[in-house]
Amino acid sequence: MNALKFFASAAIAKAWLLALLMVVPLHDAAAANKWGADYFPDILLTTHEGQKVRFYEDLVKGKSVAINVIYTSCKDECPLETARMAEVQRLMGDRMGKDIFFYSISIDPEKDTPTILKAYAANFGVGPGWLFLTGKKEDIKLLTRKLGLSRLNDAASKDGHATSLMLGNDPNGQWMRNSAVDNPRFLATTMANFFGWKEPVLPTASYAQARSLDTSRAQFTFESRCASCHTIGGGDRIGPDLGQVTTRRNPVWIARYLKEPDKVLAEGDPIAMLLFNYYPKVRMPNLRLGDEDVAVLISYLAMQSAAAEKAKRTVAAGGERLPEPAKR
Ligand code: HEC
Repeated sequence: MNALKFFASAAIAKAWLLALLMVVPLHDAAAANKWGADYFPDILLTTHEGQKVRFYEDLVKGKSVAINVIYTSCKDECPLETARMAEVQRLMGDRMGKDIFFYSISIDPEKDTPTILKAYAANFGVGPGWLFLTGKKEDIKLLTRKLGLSRLNDAASKDGHATSLMLGNDPNGQWMRNSAVDNPRFLATTMANFFGWKEPVLPTASYAQARSLDTSRAQFTFESRCASCHTIGGGDRIGPDLGQVTTRRNPVWIARYLKEPDKVLAEGDPIAMLLFNYYPKVRMPNLRLGDEDVAVLISYLAMQSAAAEKAKRTVAAGGERLPEPAKR
């Protein structure tokens, strides 16, 4: 139990870049029941589809699960977390609801009614095998404490919360903590290893399409923090296509917006309001980016926009370069 508490420590929680590597089996397989029915409270929860379920009996017993906590009004990292999980969900394909179940538990259960959770889930394209859960505040407090996610229940620090994902394999009683905002492919592979799946999670096609890993900081930052919601020149996702954004908007505005989109919007900035109305479902989250990350990201956006634009022209010309404009 103290082990679980320990995992929730702030330092680890914030070190999300490294957290995925924290593979911590909570015990050895011999004591399989230690983290089973006797350990987890069998509290009553309601799913985003309005079903009543028991936490242990219905959701965990005999299953492989991935559990995180969220709340729908979060302006901080939760939207990124949910967007990443949605990508992992896609990578899991038809394992979802069969070999693996995702549970996102609201830590703001009074506001997050099943109806609100249902709308939230729909915004992220949540499919079968992934439930958003609400319940009695006290019950959820107890549960998240048992899951080692209790710090997140501290209302005061809700917005600075840890983006942790607990993986649990109930049949052999193993639990492991991950970061929920890591690269989805990495997460999917970690899950496959942890749950001992023999078949790779990723269909061969995705491997082929996977861009070779560029370790540059900009790309890493973009891929890990933005790409779940944005493309650069590939069309809208959850958020707007960022192709040409650096020519469309003043870089000073972009820099400020990247740092505190919530404040910019709250101040009634006309561009932020327009964007917010146009993409009403999910809000651009405040990802607490530092100045350096912001600068690096803006140059990356400019560079990638130019590359995407060039590729488009090449495609438009049937694979050839477009002819130079006629000289007069
Ligand atoms: C959870 C989804 C999500 C994530 C993650 C996210 N964004 Fe956004 N972003 C949005 C949405 C949605 C909007 C549209 C405004 C709104 O509805 O709040 C937006 C708007 C923007 C805009 C303004 C676009 C324009 O046309 O002016 C920029 C720039 C931007 N995001 C950059 C980023 C960058 C860079 C990152 C990563 C550091 C990022 N976003 C991460 C969802 C996201």
